[in-house]
Amino acid sequence: MPNTRQKWPYPTWIAHRGAGRLAPENTLAAFRLGAAHGFHMMEYDVKLTADDVPILLHDDTLERTSSGQGRAADFRYAELARHDFGSWHSPAYAGEPVATLYSIAAYTRANSIHSNIEIKPTPGMETHTGERIAQLAQQLWVGAELPPLLSSFSEKALAAARDAVPELPRALLIEEELPPDWRDRALWLRCSGLNLNDRYTTPEIIQQIRDAGLSVAVWTVNDVARARQLLGWGCHAVITDEVQAMSPAKPADCN
Ligand code: G3P
Ligand code: MG
Repeated sequence: MPNTRQKWPYPTWIAHRGAGRLAPENTLAAFRLGAAHGFHMMEYDVKLTADDVPILLHDDTLERTSSGQGRAADFRYAELARHDFGSWHSPAYAGEPVATLYSIAAYTRANSIHSNIEIKPTPGMETHTGERIAQLAQQLWVGAELPPLLSSFSEKALAAARDAVPELPRALLIEEELPPDWRDRALWLRCSGLNLNDRYTTPEIIQQIRDAGLSVAVWTVNDVARARQLLGWGCHAVITDEVQAMSPAKPADCN
């Protein structure tokens, strides 16, 4: 395998949304489960409440992953904290509370887990969300061994993060096919890497990104053979829901 370590100081295996398939995504319970399977890095989605509290939530709205209804951005944290973010997944997780970036920073730092914070702004709040999450990440990870990697599909949010805290590493998330002007976009945002959709990732694309001096992580990779193929092509990390099959604690399978 190519020597990829300089561009990517983080682990190779990243649990998606905590360990968001076997436990309710983006909750502390999911992080505990991912950690129990040996993951030392988690990807998770962060957005802001009406009173500017950074919470972990994938969707703009509450319905799919909580007992609440409506847009998360329309509620204050105290209102969201009353809801159940676990029962939708399974009875074992009934009553799981909404996670905040504060509690997740405390948990991950105490357990030597690295972070890929996906900035997932509510539409219309891109600039403020990017700026605030970057500022909070800088404060919450002060003195950490490695800073969190900030990523986003929103270039507005990444630009705001860049302007607020230029020294935090950033990755541009690419939703579908790699756009022809990806180099210019990454350069303008001063990104250290690209996080690609597995569906559109080829060895040629990985090589081009590596040749540009950038890191490449791929999501969401749920097949061990595919993960091995991507790593063999020179990709630096894979983001997975399959925390059992791809557990870094099972080196024979994964490393
Ligand atoms: O950050 C990688 C991946 O999480 C992006 O897609 O929709 O799962 O947040 P999504
Ligand atoms: Mg995500």
